[in-house]
Amino acid sequence: MNATDPSAFTRFDDRGVTVLTLDLPGEKVNTLGSGMIGQFEALLGDIEKDTSVRALVIKSGKPDNFIAGADIKEFTQIGSVEEGEALSRAGQAIFDTLEGSRTPVVAAIHGTCVGGGTELSLACDYRVAADDRKTSIGLPEVMLGLIPGAGGSNRLPRLVGLVRALDMILSGRALRAPRALKAGLVDEVCHPAILLDVAKRAALGLAEGRVKPRRPGISLKEKLLRPVIFRKARATVVKRTGGHYPAPLEAIDVVRRATSTSLRAGLEIEARAFGRLSVSEVSRALVSVFFATQEIKKDAGYPQGTRSREVRKLGVLGAGLMGAGIAGAASNVGVPVRMKDASNEALGRGLKYVRDTFEERRKRRSLTRLELAQRVDRVSPTLDYTGFGRADLVIEAVFEDRELKRRVLAETEGVTSEECVFASNTSSIPIGEIAAGCRRPAQVLGMHFFSPVHKMPLLEVIATRETAPETIATAVGFGRRMGKHVIVVGDGPGFYTTRTLSPYLNEAAWLLTEGAAVEDIDRALTAFGFPVGPVTLFDEVGIDVATKIGKVMVQHLGDRMELPPATDKMMADGRLGRKSKRGFYTYGKGRKRVDETVYGLIPGRTGHRRFPRKDIQDRLVYAFLNEAVTCLQDGILRSPRDGDVGAIFGLGFPPFLGGPFRHLDRVGAAAAVSTLERLRDQHGARFEPATMLKDLAGKGRSFHAA
Ligand code: NAI
Repeated sequence: MNATDPSAFTRFDDRGVTVLTLDLPGEKVNTLGSGMIGQFEALLGDIEKDTSVRALVIKSGKPDNFIAGADIKEFTQIGSVEEGEALSRAGQAIFDTLEGSRTPVVAAIHGTCVGGGTELSLACDYRVAADDRKTSIGLPEVMLGLIPGAGGSNRLPRLVGLVRALDMILSGRALRAPRALKAGLVDEVCHPAILLDVAKRAALGLAEGRVKPRRPGISLKEKLLRPVIFRKARATVVKRTGGHYPAPLEAIDVVRRATSTSLRAGLEIEARAFGRLSVSEVSRALVSVFFATQEIKKDAGYPQGTRSREVRKLGVLGAGLMGAGIAGAASNVGVPVRMKDASNEALGRGLKYVRDTFEERRKRRSLTRLELAQRVDRVSPTLDYTGFGRADLVIEAVFEDRELKRRVLAETEGVTSEECVFASNTSSIPIGEIAAGCRRPAQVLGMHFFSPVHKMPLLEVIATRETAPETIATAVGFGRRMGKHVIVVGDGPGFYTTRTLSPYLNEAAWLLTEGAAVEDIDRALTAFGFPVGPVTLFDEVGIDVATKIGKVMVQHLGDRMELPPATDKMMADGRLGRKSKRGFYTYGKGRKRVDETVYGLIPGRTGHRRFPRKDIQDRLVYAFLNEAVTCLQDGILRSPRDGDVGAIFGLGFPPFLGGPFRHLDRVGAAAAVSTLERLRDQHGARFEPATMLKDLAGKGRSFHAA
């Protein structure tokens, strides 16, 4: 919006206290765009001159949102370091005015308060937060490759101390109201219904000198331990990010320098760092990922206006790792689940898994005992199909076996209502093959979750040619309700995620065959930015499962998907990966070590060879990238955007690269083709560049428009 737009604020005066309500017209949440800031400045000027005003309260008019932060679109328009600095200074200036105001100012916070919202509240004299689950206060700028640039990097440590401020700024984590109170981030917490009254009373109390704000500030102990605190923060960040993310390191530096000088000088340090980061490639990539996740909410892979079915009851087939994970994730959002397995033992294990994941959260205090009990009680076990008649959606997570999956689909159709949707959580089998010959193919699709379900943020929904739009809408809606980023992809072996992961894992197996060491391969890829190495991933997925999937891929996609025969002997030797405590690594007594004897089981391996790290990275990463392009070319992916989101949130592709397609755009299609051609000449036809990539290279074009 701009300054001529309808007012973002309403002003209400009551016995000396002015209440400013921020309510951006036509928006779900409040953001701090330049238009709104202009209006704010003008209002503050008026209030400053109005001698009848003794105190000011700032609140939001949105139901569950205080301020969602800056208008991130404005970040994408920053063209230079200087423009970035200017944006930061503009934010700092308005909050300086707020802080310097003649009257005391109280922020009445209910709902999400992040980024610029938190910085606004920090410039107030007093903060009251509504004690509600929806209230959370934080500075998530590092997640976009930035630092708090509107005073937050200065005011937060001055308010809550170094350790707490660094923790919040570096993790980007938001605090709920009780924690915020404990940290000294807010002065008072109250029931949401009386938030405004409490804020007004505090405002008057401040004006009359009866109320004194809390300011824990930087303690003497922190002052003495300064060098240690910053050194430790730095070491932790380097370890966690592998040095790929400049923002947290800049943040540490800014907090360190800013807290050893005046606020004025500190703000200047902050603005300069913000300017530098705002044009960095990493920030651009992270911002693009943020927008991609927003866009997929609007463009979900079915026609606008499609009716979706609300899932009131869920049926889950299979109480294994995935079935139990899905049941727990559904129960967590209030959906009753009926979970079926073939034996009482399997059901018992599944229920225990459900309980354990909630128990973990209870220990971290993100769930109360009552909430835990409710979530566990919502999952009821069964050995037959009792209760499935009332299910709106059934998700199947039985063994990865096509005939078994076809059979359970037929059984399910026999007991469920005509409208019930059936989803398979297969990781590789084409949904069309599972649905072939079933009674209601329009109501069958894939819902591919990732392990562990409660933590992994992606859901890949697979639609066949016959899947009805309502069916897709139902699955997408349900996935979103569980808090997942949902991409809708076309049907085919391994869909998008498993299909791109396969040649990547295969390449690790080829390297092992050629003599590479397990730890060299894993370290090369974690150094590239993946959260775990590919050999570790083999062990996590399970050698048996990976081999089975590998076979499905070869069967459908041919030789380029060939998995070297590295795993057959391992399976015969009982090495199934982490679940059997032995794979490429051993997992005795909680310690993970490479098992040197595994090399003897790999056919064709004649001894150890050292490979340059870059060679290992190129082989695996280009295998991955090339397959991602093939998925787009084959219509499995609807857009490069979906490919970026899927790879980052499902497979751990480095977010700082913005996803495989953003990464390819930066490398350039022509350069990528020439790398692939070199790899093809060295290692074989599996590296033949995808036709679409060659086309783009020929035309000098990129995947994304900008
Ligand atoms: P799992 O082996 O832990 O669980 C499978 C469960 O299905 C077992 O408890 C088994 O007793 C049960 N089952 C077998 N036949 C049944 C029947 N007729 N009715 C009811 N239950 C039956 O396997 P997991 O890992 O949970 O995998 C399940 C599915 O999810 C597979 O299709 C797999 O490819 C897929 N998947 C697995 C992922 C993983 O990371 N493990 C990730 C994404 C998908």
